[in-house]
Amino acid sequence: MWQSFAEYISSLCEKNPTKICEIGVGKFTQVFDYLNKQDNIEIIKTDIAPNDSSVIKDDVTRPDLKLFENLDIIYSIRPPSELQPYIIDLALKTKTKLIIKPLFNEDINTKNVKLTLKNYKKASFYTLGV
Ligand SMILES: C[S@@+](CC[C@H](N)C(=O)[O-])C[C@H]1O[C@@H](n2cnc3c(N)ncnc32)[C@H](O)[C@@H]1O
Repeated sequence: MWQSFAEYISSLCEKNPTKICEIGVGKFTQVFDYLNKQDNIEIIKTDIAPNDSSVIKDDVTRPDLKLFENLDIIYSIRPPSELQPYIIDLALKTKTKLIIKPLFNEDINTKNVKLTLKNYKKASFYTLGV
C-alpha cells in the first residue's frame, strides 16, 4: 500500500526538480525515503516534534511560510483530525497540490473545502488541486 501511495506521488512529479514537503512525518519515513531516492524530486519533512535532525521543526498551525515557498506538492500521512484544516489551508495559501492519507478511509476534517477521494493501485487517499 505504501509503495502504491509513494508511486502515485511520484507520478505527479513531471517537473525536474519537483519540490515536495511531508508534514507531520513522525517516525514513519517509508514514503519520504522512496521519494527522496528519485532523481527529479527535492523533498523535505517537517514535524512539530522532530524525531531526528533530518526533520525540520515546524508547527503547521503556525507554519514558517518560507519553508513552503516554491513547493509543488504537500502530503501528510495519518495527520490528526485537528491538524487537517491547517494542512489544507497551507496548501491553498501556497498553491501546492495536496495529498492526505488518513489513518483509515475516514472523512477528512476539511472545513468545507472539497477534497477528492482517489484510489491508486492498493492505496486510497484524498487530494486537492491534483
Ligand atoms: C498520528 S502521528 C503520524 C506520524 C506519521 N506521519 C505516521 O503516519 O506514522 C501525527 C504526527 O503529527 C505531528 N504533529 C502534531 N501536531 C503537529 C503540528 N502542529 N505541526 C506539525 N506536526 C504536528 C506529531 O508530532 C506526529 O509526528
